Amino acid sequence: MASYLVTGAAGFIGRSIAAALVARGETVRGIDNFIAGKRANLVGLEAMEFLEGDLADPAACAEACAGVEIVFHEAALASVPRSVADPVATNVNCVDATLNLLVAARAAGVRRVVYAGSSSVYGDAPTLPKHEEMLPNPISPYAVAKLAGEHYMRAFTRVYGLETVVLRYFNVFGPYQDPTSQYSGVLAVFCRRMLAGEQPTIYGDGEQSRDFTYIDNVVHANLLAAAAPAEKVAGQMMNTATGTRITLNQTFGILRELTGYSGQLGYAKGRAGDIRDSLADIRRAGELLGYKPIVDFREGLRRTVEWYRSGV
Ligand code: UD1
Repeated sequence: MASYLVTGAAGFIGRSIAAALVARGETVRGIDNFIAGKRANLVGLEAMEFLEGDLADPAACAEACAGVEIVFHEAALASVPRSVADPVATNVNCVDATLNLLVAARAAGVRRVVYAGSSSVYGDAPTLPKHEEMLPNPISPYAVAKLAGEHYMRAFTRVYGLETVVLRYFNVFGPYQDPTSQYSGVLAVFCRRMLAGEQPTIYGDGEQSRDFTYIDNVVHANLLAAAAPAEKVAGQMMNTATGTRITLNQTFGILRELTGYSGQLGYAKGRAGDIRDSLADIRRAGELLGYKPIVDFREGLRRTVEWYRSGV
């Protein structure tokens, strides 16, 4: 049986992947430094071996990779505005961490690393949908850092033969996403505020759109990427999304129904580094992984609202 490592295991996406592996009865180790991750997210993951450690520390990477066959590398400071406020911290926790992890993975004889890429690498080019043949055009330090990680993945496949697969996530949302930070994803923030009867704020006119991707689709893509034949996927990158998009104003309308919020919506100045529209072409993941979304936006949002409502 394979042995798995999930980095960022106390974060939203890492926790969700780890839970799916644990549910399958796999041997799973998780690592997190709790900069963005939360101890509460480890509840229910008692079957996972957990290391508190920082990937910026090569010794922690070595300990985490020992005896592992497949790594899901989810650890990052996943926020555009956070990277605008502190680009060095983003670089340390995304770029240095990724390189240290790859070096340790290679030394430990890890077979495959599946990497959490980001749609932010496409930048604000007006072309829609975003497809993988497009030249990357990162416009925030976060996007630069996530792109550097992608390049390290491909280079480690090319020069060392380590199997790497890059999944470029598009605006992931769902249970366990932290709604409390100033850097939280918009749907998490809106769910929390609207359930509490507090007014949410849209930055800009609300006509910006996103390919919001429910977490189960991302977990599904990761499991497929771990299992796909190396000839097909090693050294490859592909979008992980739904192939549909929705504006923030429309999202607010749906959330009103789901939460019962009857108050107003506020508007404020647009955010620096923000992009207007984002929509993925998901054909490549379909061809290489047999991926297609398993939960649509509305159903995902319904489940998400219920999770925040339950106050877990
Ligand atoms: C970006 C990246 C994504 C990355 C994520 C991490 C793109 C296309 N995507 O997402 O890959 O994983 O950062 O954070 O670049 N907003 C509000 N009100 C709020 C909060 C946000 O209106 O209270 C707006 C933002 O200004 C933005 C949209 O909602 O226009 C989405 O914001 P957010 O959820 O932070 O994600 P992105 O910045 O799109």
